[in-house]
Amino acid sequence: MQGSDTIIVIDFGSQYTQLIARRIRDAKVYSEILPWDTPCEEIIARDPSGVVLSGGPASAPEEGAPAIAPELLRQTFPVLGICYGMQTMAHVMGGEVTKGESAEYGRTDIRITADHPLFTEIPRELTVWMSHWDRVATLPEGTVSLAESAGGVPAGFATPEGHLIAIQFHPEVVHTQYGQEILRNFLYGICGCEPSWDLGAWSEEKIAEIRKQTRGEKIVCGLSGGVDSTVAATLTHHAVGDRLECIFVDNGLLRLNEAREVMQAFEALDLRVRHVDASERFLTALKGVSDPERKRRIIGEVFIRVFEEAAERDGGADWLLQGTLYPDIIESGKRGKGAATIKTHHNVGGLPEDMDLQVLEPLRDLFKDEVRRIGRLLGVPGGILERHPFPGPGLAVRCLGELSPERLETLRRADAVFIDAIRKAGLYNEIWQAFVVLLPVRTVGVMGDIRTYAEVAALRAVEAQDGMTADWTRLPADLLDGVARRICNEIPEINRVVVDVTGKPPATIEWE
Ligand code: XMP
Repeated sequence: MQGSDTIIVIDFGSQYTQLIARRIRDAKVYSEILPWDTPCEEIIARDPSGVVLSGGPASAPEEGAPAIAPELLRQTFPVLGICYGMQTMAHVMGGEVTKGESAEYGRTDIRITADHPLFTEIPRELTVWMSHWDRVATLPEGTVSLAESAGGVPAGFATPEGHLIAIQFHPEVVHTQYGQEILRNFLYGICGCEPSWDLGAWSEEKIAEIRKQTRGEKIVCGLSGGVDSTVAATLTHHAVGDRLECIFVDNGLLRLNEAREVMQAFEALDLRVRHVDASERFLTALKGVSDPERKRRIIGEVFIRVFEEAAERDGGADWLLQGTLYPDIIESGKRGKGAATIKTHHNVGGLPEDMDLQVLEPLRDLFKDEVRRIGRLLGVPGGILERHPFPGPGLAVRCLGELSPERLETLRRADAVFIDAIRKAGLYNEIWQAFVVLLPVRTVGVMGDIRTYAEVAALRAVEAQDGMTADWTRLPADLLDGVARRICNEIPEINRVVVDVTGKPPATIEWE
């Protein structure tokens, strides 16, 4: 489903590829990502208004490096190469790409050297974001230089008629001044796109499509209380009403009051939801288990059994609704090679293939922020839309070591204190994810002149774009101090609080 214009983003493996597609959609033009080895005919058959070549980690002159088909550059639609995209273009067009003596990385000043529609109303000197080792030493014959960085290093070139354009910097990254304006110049001025991609119209079309696709049949959906499944269910509910039955599996690994709060939110949305309390079953299966991978496997297996039993009640269903998003599709490699491999552990809650249900994935073309916007249009409460991500295996992977109802309760209470402080400081929506981890060690403390020997809580708060990489959040010292005091005062099972100051990489966001 799309507006009348489509921009294809060819992925050479850059960490910013999805960002390019999102920025294009922010400019109200529909964009899709395809792997670099998509046959050229397939790209042409989609009749794009333009093509963007992403960055990537390879070295264009090396044998076997991903490259574009020369044919792609002989079409009438404009092509914009970014970073590695510029280098592969230069290489294919007969220019020379060499290893730089040093990398250009981070903020770099460049000078625009030519009048080109890409730089309409952009100052001649600007600071941009670079991230590359190789450089284009000699421009392809017949092209003109567009920009250069210090020392005359080429930072862009174009063909004289102007429809093949290459830039060494990343306009999609916020640190590039006028980055969004440069992309808009490409979309509107060069590709002739209209800003017509609109999520309100998208929802209406999607609702009509779901109605048509499911033809009066029954749909079942596993609701977690997270953004994706809730928005998928709400959208589908608008299409088919009570032909949609939702199942909320309480695995006993949820946060303080979470089951009650999400059930209330579902009621407010008028969704037909069955609450299946399977906490005992999960906790029994997890008894004595401390290995993280075993925990995840057990939770996945029990979830599948519980969901299957619930879904088969009342004569079963014909369709399974899932909140799959566009990044899931790209990361799972369903759209081809070159994309990152999905972490299999993120598929907890994935369902058996022999369930004999047709799969309905209405959000599969959307990014997370677009799903939030649709959710807002459909009246999903902000409390659900802005929730921090929460892993399928829940507190099991934050309660390190063996689980017990008592340790889970300790963790729940500590987590609630931390989140409460973050909310009160007005920081909740600024943080990608914040939570407490209960460590499997005890340490000595002293309280009221009495020796204590109790557990340790670790505070984790991170900033991220998509969870694939993350930096730790510099929370104010006063906030951390208040949280540590409250946790130790209110929860006698904990006598020490530490802060996790590791990024991802080298750590992951969750501890298990
Ligand atoms: P890691 O810990 O791998 O996590 O850096 C990245 C993001 O994914 C979330 N996460 C999960 N989400 N099922 C999920 O639905 C899982 O098994 C799972 N494990 C991690 C994590 O909270 C973070 O947002």
